[in-house]
Amino acid sequence: MWPARLPEAASAAGPAGIPAPAALPPGGLAPGAPALSEGRCAHGKGTLSGETFGLGASTPGLGRPGPASRDAVWCSRLSKSYGHRAALRSVSLRISSGEVVGLLGPNGAGKSTLVKLLVGLARPDSGEALVLGAPLGHPQSRRDIGYLPELFRYQPWLSVAEVIGLHARLCPVPVADRRREVDRVLDRAGLADRGQDRVASLSKGLQQRLGLAVALLGKPRLLLLDEPTSALDPTGRADVRSLIDQCRAEGITVLLNSHMLSEVERSCDRVIVLDRGRVLADGPLGAWLDHDVLRVRLDGEAGRFVPCLAHFGEVSAHARELTMPSLALSLVPDVVGALVAAGARVVSVEPGQVSLEEKLLELLSGHDEDRP
Ligand SMILES: Nc1ncnc2c1ncn2[C@@H]1O[C@H](COP(=O)(O)OP(=O)(O)O)[C@@H](O)[C@H]1O
Ligand SMILES: [Mg+2]
Repeated sequence: MWPARLPEAASAAGPAGIPAPAALPPGGLAPGAPALSEGRCAHGKGTLSGETFGLGASTPGLGRPGPASRDAVWCSRLSKSYGHRAALRSVSLRISSGEVVGLLGPNGAGKSTLVKLLVGLARPDSGEALVLGAPLGHPQSRRDIGYLPELFRYQPWLSVAEVIGLHARLCPVPVADRRREVDRVLDRAGLADRGQDRVASLSKGLQQRLGLAVALLGKPRLLLLDEPTSALDPTGRADVRSLIDQCRAEGITVLLNSHMLSEVERSCDRVIVLDRGRVLADGPLGAWLDHDVLRVRLDGEAGRFVPCLAHFGEVSAHARELTMPSLALSLVPDVVGALVAAGARVVSVEPGQVSLEEKLLELLSGHDEDRP
């Protein structure tokens, strides 16, 4: 099932038979304990994936390129079902070291399942993958992965510093460095003054910050963040953005699974879209969003004015806004004239660029139409 030979990156990092770190305790943690941060860090740049691989040498039998030494993640035809429900269907992708990649898709698309496979918390039914040059779940890669699960609970009776200290032992962070490392991640997660607080006393957002602190322990080479900002306030979300910027500067590879599209837009180099377990799209964010649109704001519901603009080309309406992609700016006065003639009250007219949300909705609706 797994590639018989690890790529260069893995052999440079260490032999395949390295003893397992105590990343997961033999008996597990207390009930309700989080899925732990199994590991911990990589570098470079690149794009591509899905069914459009273009790099690397061909892997015999796969009929597609194999892993390259700079891949932090390489997956080929990964599939996973839960009973009769297919969560992932033949997913192929690659993430180069140092890339910051957004993983998007509707609920149930398979995003968390993919992340769990990469961490080694679930096993694929078929397919091949390497994470940081090692097979899925291999102690070598687990040690270098930082993971923030989508859903987690820490032991409520422990203090914040105790939770982090416990995970620092599991990581394992060398004894001599532990205190400094605990303080470092507390600080980076914005919890420097919360070390003595009990988990039970933390708000949901602060617990999410604690999860981030744990994921950052031991300087991971690959950070897998599954909905890291779902419970965070705007300040917390801004903190996560700057944390991702720091990771980028340090060459840490980040896979960011988030529904907060503005964050993905600001933080990521590339976006992978999953839908119904398949890779629907994969591309550099800059190229995706490099499309001009005209946004016309009205003082009332915009949908009823779509027909009067139909002869200008594509028009869509959302609440009080009309969006017209690829409209020549010389036609703006005509558009406004047509709207006024149809009884609309125009509040503003702004040329701008397509947003990630618009692009994603377009992709997903196109995919719906493709369905039998
Ligand atoms: N442990 C599980 N048992 C049964 N079905 C699951 C399990 N985990 C995920 N699924 C199903 O697999 C599909 C993908 O789920 P998930 O990966 O959580 O999607 P996403 O993170 O994109 O919302 C969904 O249909 C979900 O219900
Ligand atoms: Mg999920």
